[in-house]
Parts: sequence; C-alpha cells; structure tokens
Amino acid sequence: MLRALKGEVLERPPFWFMRQAGRYLPEYREVRKQSKNFLDFCYSPDLTVEATLQPLRRYNMDAAILFSDILVLPDALGQKVEFREGEGPVFKPIRSVADIDSLSADRIEDHLAPVFETVGRLTKEIPKETALIGFAGAPWTVAVYMVEGRGGTDCGRIRKWADDASDEFQKLVNLLVDTTTVYLTRQVESGAEIIQLFDSWAGILNEEQFRRWSIEPTRRIVDRLRESCPGVPVIGFPRHAGPLAERYVIDTGIDGISLDQDTSLEWIAETLQPKCTVQGNLDNQILIEGGEALDRETIGILKALSKGPFIFNLGHGVLPATPPEHVARVAELVLGWPATAKEVG
Ligand code: CP3
Repeated sequence: MLRALKGEVLERPPFWFMRQAGRYLPEYREVRKQSKNFLDFCYSPDLTVEATLQPLRRYNMDAAILFSDILVLPDALGQKVEFREGEGPVFKPIRSVADIDSLSADRIEDHLAPVFETVGRLTKEIPKETALIGFAGAPWTVAVYMVEGRGGTDCGRIRKWADDASDEFQKLVNLLVDTTTVYLTRQVESGAEIIQLFDSWAGILNEEQFRRWSIEPTRRIVDRLRESCPGVPVIGFPRHAGPLAERYVIDTGIDGISLDQDTSLEWIAETLQPKCTVQGNLDNQILIEGGEALDRETIGILKALSKGPFIFNLGHGVLPATPPEHVARVAELVLGWPATAKEVG
C-alpha cells in the first residue's frame, strides 16, 4: 500500500475494500450484539479492534481500516447523533450561526480517545506488512449529515444555505477543517499509516460549488497534514465527481484518489493515473451478484489499471447483502494476479 501510494507500479496491486468490516459478515453481527447502540460500539476499543481484524482474517487484505464512523466527529463537537435501526443516523440539525456556535472543539480529543486507543492497539495486532488506514469524512460530506439532520435527503437545505449565505456556511466548514485535521493528526500519532478522506456526497455539487466545498477544504486539510504528519499519504474519495476528479487531484495535492464505479477505466488510466495513484473501482452491486460477471469485471479492472500506480478496491462500500464468498473470490483473483488473467476468458 505504501509503495503504491508513492507511485510505484507493483506486479500484484495491493487491495482492500471500503466498508470491509460490517453487517455482511456473520462474525460482525455477532460482536455487534454486545452493544445496543452503534456509537457505543464505536467507542469500545475491545469491539472495534475485533471488528477491524475480522475481514483480515478471512481475506488477507493489504490494509486494515480503523473501525469507526465519519459521524463520531460531529458527535464529539456536541451535536449528538443517534443511529436508528433501519433509518441510519439522525441529528438535531445545524441550520444557523447560533447552531454552529453551540458546537465546541474543546472536548474532541477526550471524546475521541477510544478511537485513538483502537488505533494504538491495532498497530500491535495487525501483521507488519498490513497497512493501517485511519479516516475521516471530508468537511462537505460531514456537513451534509449535520445540516440535513439525516442521510438519504435530496440535500436541498444544505445547498440552499451554502448558496444563499455562503459566509455562514463557510464558518461550519472552517470548524470541520480545523477539527478534522486535529482528529486525523491524533490518529497518525496513535499509529495510522495512511489517511482516507471520504467525500461521499461530493457528486451533488456543481463545478463552482465543488471547488469551494470539496476541493478547497480538502486541500487545506492535506496541507496541514503535510506539516503535522510528514510522509503520511492521503487518499481522497470524491464520490461521483466525474471529470472534476482531475481538478481535485491537481488542486488538493492528495497522493491517491479513490474512484466510484461510474468512472471510465480508460479515462482513469489516461488522465488520472499519470498524476497520482488510483484506487477502485469494482461495482458493489456486482459483488452481490457474483458469478462470471464478477470475475470479468475484476479482471477487467486489473487489466486496465495495473500498468500504473494502483490499489484495487470497490467503487463504494461493501453492502450488507453481499455474500462473503464473493469477497473471497475477488481476493483470490487479485492475490493471484497476473496469473489469474488466464483463468477468466
Ligand atoms: O470500512 C470499514 O470497514 C470501516 C468502518 C466504516 C463505517 N462507516 C462503519 C459503519 C467506515 C469507513 C464508515 C464511513 C462512513 N460512514 C461513510 C463514508 C463512506 C460511505 O459509505 O459513503 C458515511 C457516509 C458514513 C455514515 C453512516 N454510517 C451512515 C449513513 C450509516 C447508516 C447506513 C448504514 O450503512 O448502515 C452508518 C452506520 C455504519 N457505519 C454501520 C457500519 C458498520 C452500520 C451500523 C451497524 O452496524 O449497526
């Protein structure tokens, strides 16, 4: 992973999967029972260490990703989040300057101490050749949940606020830039070797908004991490950015870009790969389906991208309905590469 992120081209590319831990694994559903509330789970190092290790035991990925959630940061800022069964995260929304002022950055390090403890323990638990990834949500994506108050909306409220009172909204973004940098720096000090920034909702922004609310805050975080954590590579995931991904790579200075399944392999290879390491982009629906289509897609991605700096991954996270055997099949094809190219017609 570290060599690939320095731009090295490896014969067998490294691989891991976004959301590689979680509900598709029976052993996760089993430990998950030990905590009624998902946030309590995230703040229990015994449980999060176990959840992080579960996919590694099955599939031998080249990286472990800290088990946590992007929404622990707003929780630490004082905007209490509740994860409801079947509904996802629910917040009392932030919609004014007074709401922003009610948040406080003072307690984030104490509040998030269990996360840093998880990272520290993982450095002793995972094999030396397996990289440990720390992560956070990018400011725009975290703000979507904070302002909308839940997931799955059309993002009408946040877009209106960002357009009509951009100075007010900028204040929230600035708070997120500052606190995300502190949060990630502490993860690295605790042992994280790579950082990934999830901007899952970047794709709803138009070009001008994308520059201001996705690229610019990401660039500021990357710049500051270069100072506080020199040499630690950063992967950005501006999901559904389309052709704006090129600007994102150039302007943010990230080391790697994670791409969704709708991004053309040819375009990735020609336009992005000469500029930075690329990661992706198997369709998580095909991972559910399995069979020949899964083999074909997996090999197709390996053929198209393994000639440049590349990390094999999905285009978005593993979904709960995914059969674990399908994940095993993809791991087998990647681990056996390039010999496995012949196996699949
Ligand atoms: O990748 C991993 O294995 C590490 C764990 C991880 C989780 N969430 C665990 C989780 C990571 C990296 C995340 C990131 C995350 N969380 C994102 C960005 C990536 C993406 O998927 O777009 C976002 C947008 C969230 C916010 C979030 N967390 C939502 C909307 C939900 C509810 C919907 C859902 O998927 O359940 C969560 C809950 C969540 N985060 C679960 C897990 C395993 C399920 C909760 C449970 O087990 O009860």
